[in-house]
This record gives sequence, C-alpha cells and structure tokens, in this order.
Amino acid sequence: ASTTEVDISKIEPGQAIKALFRRQPLFVRNLTPKEIAEADAVPMSELRDPQTLEERTKPGKTNWLITMGVCTHLGCTPLGAGPGEDRGPYGGYFCPCHGSAYDTAARIRKGPAPTNLEVPEYEFTSDTVVKVG
Ligand code: FES
Repeated sequence: ASTTEVDISKIEPGQAIKALFRRQPLFVRNLTPKEIAEADAVPMSELRDPQTLEERTKPGKTNWLITMGVCTHLGCTPLGAGPGEDRGPYGGYFCPCHGSAYDTAARIRKGPAPTNLEVPEYEFTSDTVVKVG
C-alpha cells in the first residue's frame, strides 16, 4: 500500500489543507485552542459516532486533525478545508451534497452521514512532516 508525505509546516492555526491519499482527498487541519476546547466540551451522549478528539489525534498533537476528506454518507468531498469555505454549523466541515455537518473533531453532528470522517493510519516523521498510510 502506498504512503503519502505531507508538509505541515505552512498550516497556521485555524487553517487546513487538502492533499491526496490513495487518490482520495485528505484533510490536514491545525486546530486553534478554541476549536480544541469546543470539541472537548461535547458530551459523548450527543455524538452519533462517539469518539473524543484525543482518540482521533496523536498524543501531544491534538491540534493536528488528519482525516479523509470523504463524506461518510455517499462520498462527496465536504467543504471546510479550503480557504474561505463554509465549515457548517459545527465549525468543522460541511458536505453540500445532502447537508452533513461535522464538528471541529470532524465528527458527524447533523445530516445523513452515519459516521465521523475517517482518520487514516499516519505518523509524524518530524515536527513538520506527516506520513500517511
Ligand atoms: Fe455528504 Fe450525502 S454525501 S451528505
């Protein structure tokens, strides 16, 4: 299986980028402290696919939210990773196809998608490079 290396050195807090992993969109987002706090404040009982932000990120690097950019409903690419794109009512990502809204941990909060945006296998090979896959 192929891997993808992503340079994260230029992603400022609050910004995200889109990359490609195995021909599918990959989102890499540098969460702000406020976005982390928002994710941490959500009770598990309110989540359709209950997972903490900590479970979806690496220890000590909870600001780096790395997910597939593939809506878990029917596979559209959600908005929110590109500059100025609509992040939806929960501040994460928003799928314009049928209105699935994801929060700042890319967890599904509203709309037809059944599960959170998938977190692929990845590791930090340095402070500025992530190897996905
Ligand atoms: Fe995203 Fe349907 S494909 S809401």
